Amino acid sequence: MRKKVTIVGSGNVGATAAHWIASKELADVVLIDIIEGVPQGKGLDLLEAMPIEKRDSYVIGTQNYSDTANSDLVVITAGIPRKPGMSRDDLLNTNHKIMKDVVSKVVEHSPNCILIIVSNPLDAMAQAAYKMSGFARQRVIGMAGILDSARFRAFIAEELKVSVENVTAFVLGGHGDTMVPLPRYSTVAGIPITELMDAATVERLVQRTRDGGAEIVKYLKTGSAYYAPSAAVAEMVESILKDKKKILPCAAYLQGEYGIHGLFVGVPVKLGWAGIEQIIEIKLTPEEKAALDKSAAAVKELVEVIGV
Ligand code: NAI
Ligand code: 2OP
Repeated sequence: MRKKVTIVGSGNVGATAAHWIASKELADVVLIDIIEGVPQGKGLDLLEAMPIEKRDSYVIGTQNYSDTANSDLVVITAGIPRKPGMSRDDLLNTNHKIMKDVVSKVVEHSPNCILIIVSNPLDAMAQAAYKMSGFARQRVIGMAGILDSARFRAFIAEELKVSVENVTAFVLGGHGDTMVPLPRYSTVAGIPITELMDAATVERLVQRTRDGGAEIVKYLKTGSAYYAPSAAVAEMVESILKDKKKILPCAAYLQGEYGIHGLFVGVPVKLGWAGIEQIIEIKLTPEEKAALDKSAAAVKELVEVIGV
């Protein structure tokens, strides 16, 4: 039987995620949004692209949650994005209200789904969705680390003039200014980048990664990045629906892992049919651990503001 993915919010990230998912034939896709006509129009447009792409993914758009019933996966991108001068944290209260509205409807119609949260501020929104859904922690996953790591990978490949296929990278922590890129665990063909670049170059790429979202916002002016974020969503969807068990950096609810309790933070996880099948604890130096703790503290502050 074909899998069903609902995407809540058919703006830039949502519609582009639908494009990747349908064109990879991962599932049938339902786009839902509060703006009348937009999910219907984008859904129909994507459906009409499928004969050209030679893909049998059925795509629809709707305002009606009954069309989303029994989805295997629901991706939540509903919310407002950043504008120049705004941090992800400035979106907190507005997006929390939207998340409350959306999660209850999603859970009512797809009680067995896995939730992938995208709306910002990411870790706090994932925590809000987790608490509201009542789902097991394996079934609520935040998307950020794949995006941040992909930015780091792109910058490393560009700097060393090597194929992106050779580059792996890990960025842990919250999806914000305190995120923790880990050069020791970032490699080119298995060689740590710390062996291939001097410390100043590594630090420059690390800082560009931390500022990666703001760099795009500054160019776009009216919104934030969406091609790389939606590609990251598609990678998560693929790993879950095909039970590939990829190890990917995602926001997960920690219950003692990395010494962090009761908080969503980006860590390496194994993604398969059950959702988060394992949280992988890697060894950190005291400096790396301190950076992760600082990042977790920044997430905790936001979570306390909205009381989740
Ligand atoms: P967008 O403005 O293009 O799309 C958001 C859509 O959500 C709009 O179409 C809007 O009508 C819809 N929406 C608002 N309230 C809704 C509700 N109650 N129910 C259904 N739909 C609703 O924004 P974009 O660029 O797609 O970004 C979406 C969110 O994702 C933002 O919060 C952004 O900050 C976040 N984001 C997170 C990333 C991450 O790494 N976690 C990366 C990129 C974006
Ligand atoms: C990004 O990092 C806005 O969180 C989004 O591009």
